[in-house]
Amino acid sequence: MRGVEIAYDDAGSGSPVVLLHGYPFNRSMWRGQLGALAQDYRVIAPDFRGHGESAVTSVPSTMELLAEDVAGLLDNLSISKATIGGLSMGGYVALAFYRLFPSRVSSLILTATRAQADSEEAKQNRAVQAEKALREGMEGIVDGLLSKLLTAETLAKRPEVVNQLRAMITSTSPQGAAAALKGMAVRVDQTSLLPQINVPTLIVAGSEDAIIPLADAELMNREIAGSRLEVIEGAGHVLNLEEPAKFNTTLMTFLSETRS
Ligand code: MLT
Repeated sequence: MRGVEIAYDDAGSGSPVVLLHGYPFNRSMWRGQLGALAQDYRVIAPDFRGHGESAVTSVPSTMELLAEDVAGLLDNLSISKATIGGLSMGGYVALAFYRLFPSRVSSLILTATRAQADSEEAKQNRAVQAEKALREGMEGIVDGLLSKLLTAETLAKRPEVVNQLRAMITSTSPQGAAAALKGMAVRVDQTSLLPQINVPTLIVAGSEDAIIPLADAELMNREIAGSRLEVIEGAGHVLNLEEPAKFNTTLMTFLSETRS
């Protein structure tokens, strides 16, 4: 599509639900959701460019560019409108998608994400991370990431979750990760978009998320009229991996109540 190969999963049938992964993961993070949701919905989970099996490109992966890739994929699949859900960077892209293509969004699922842009400190940290990933490979940044992505409890007691996330991160192209870091660093503040959102919106947050504070989810909940905030107690940033059953129930309840 537009010269960029985007790999994706397409499972089930019915109203389309798009699931957008976080940084620096890939579509396999949604494995635990695909089976459950595909019983009632058509679930489409792409790998963002620079991640998973999609093409790696050298330009910064801005949230707009990633949103346009998603729109191009939906065009190819002849899907005009879908539920757009994303975790963290996937949520930044979901908001950018809404800003660019509001008529293509039937509902939004914003998980472990925020509307604000990066602080200056966060931007500088991304530049350091990108440089380190390019110099040392993903092995150089994976441990620092894992310690923030998962709760201490998961890190200590659930090696299968830690290993799944580690494998996803270390399989990501350092060039792809660096392009995403540059894209996230230049992303615009989308807070002013929130009051304009007029589709059913579910916001999901982990109470122990060390990357996105609960206050950011509460801000989106206040600003998006009629939105629902579900807090998964004890879960960290990658809450669909830490609490798949609770996460799936939360999504299924929202989707069945808002099905058009
Ligand atoms: C993610 O999980 O996508 C990242 O933590 C987002 C970020 O670094 O802002």
